[in-house]
Amino acid sequence: MSTTAFISMAGSTGKTVTAITTACKLAADGLVVDVVDIDLQANPTSWLGYEEWNGPTVADVLRGKASLKEVRLPARYYLGRNADDEDVYKYLDRVRIIPASRETLSPLSVEMVGDRTLLDSLRDAFIAEAHSDPDQVADVRLLDCGGVDSPFNTLAMLATTAEEDFPDGGTGMSGVITCSAPGRKEMEGLDPLIAMLKRTAKLYNRPQLKLLSVVPTIVPTATGAPTKGERELRDYHFRPATGFHELLEVIEDEYADAALCGVTPPVRETRHVKRAFNEAIPLHFYRPTRDVAGDYDRVVEHQKARGLWPSTSRHAA
Ligand SMILES: Nc1ncnc2c1ncn2[C@@H]1O[C@H](COP(=O)(O)OP(=O)(O)OP(=O)(O)O)[C@@H](O)[C@H]1O
Ligand SMILES: [Mg+2]
Repeated sequence: MSTTAFISMAGSTGKTVTAITTACKLAADGLVVDVVDIDLQANPTSWLGYEEWNGPTVADVLRGKASLKEVRLPARYYLGRNADDEDVYKYLDRVRIIPASRETLSPLSVEMVGDRTLLDSLRDAFIAEAHSDPDQVADVRLLDCGGVDSPFNTLAMLATTAEEDFPDGGTGMSGVITCSAPGRKEMEGLDPLIAMLKRTAKLYNRPQLKLLSVVPTIVPTATGAPTKGERELRDYHFRPATGFHELLEVIEDEYADAALCGVTPPVRETRHVKRAFNEAIPLHFYRPTRDVAGDYDRVVEHQKARGLWPSTSRHAA
């Protein structure tokens, strides 16, 4: 069982795309995955098939008005209309979404400031489900947070510490995963995140809170023939554009030790991501080619090899 929160202190670093593709990859490998949307923009909710969702949301869970089971939806994407003019969806095996909406989350972001009970409400909901409905509990929970500094980041960090109270323990790790593009602005978010993790661990007495993995994302790629220097970078699976290897090296050198499972291989910038998002189709299904989703798969393999994800599902096949 693993609970991870995708958090960064800089916006638009690729967290949501990485969380959704991670969910699809882990589900393809047989794990049951919950994506928990705690972003005011509700991007994971729309990307997993519920645009403008106005049913029960994660906010009801945080307020103690609904259980996770009452809110959880099967992830899907839209295929089109059939002959009877009905919407037809493709449902994703083993991926589920705890949806959000701006209307319901927004008031909570204000109420949550300084309210210790609300800040621990997601963790409490996880623990409650482990006791009341253990069969429902996912193998992996991916919490997707928005890119601004908000109490939802604290909520998500604290929720990654639910694990220790689980009746059956199991494999996999819990903690924070962060994404950073190799750019000055995006990388400036890494040190504040590490500082915030330390502060939160201390203030809420959760020494087990940790940074698990740094994912370099949206890395521009070079075109044309490689230079001699670029050829020497063969151990990369692609050639980052000039000016970007140095920044990638900075991420690797400075943050490899700060994250328990280190820095993953980088994810290339590709126009398919924006298109897939606009059409609300997860990358693995949008263009089922290894080129597009392959970089994300390599990220997950890297993390898996380091024990971040559970090796087997608790759920019967
Ligand atoms: N590999 C990629 N190649 C090209 N564009 C990408 C890639 N990954 C993400 N993007 C684009 O970058 C933008 C931000 O991505 P995403 O929404 O995943 O980031 P985020 O960190 O979740 O943002 P926020 O902080 O707003 O929650 C989006 O427009 C997305 O389409
Ligand atoms: Mg996002």
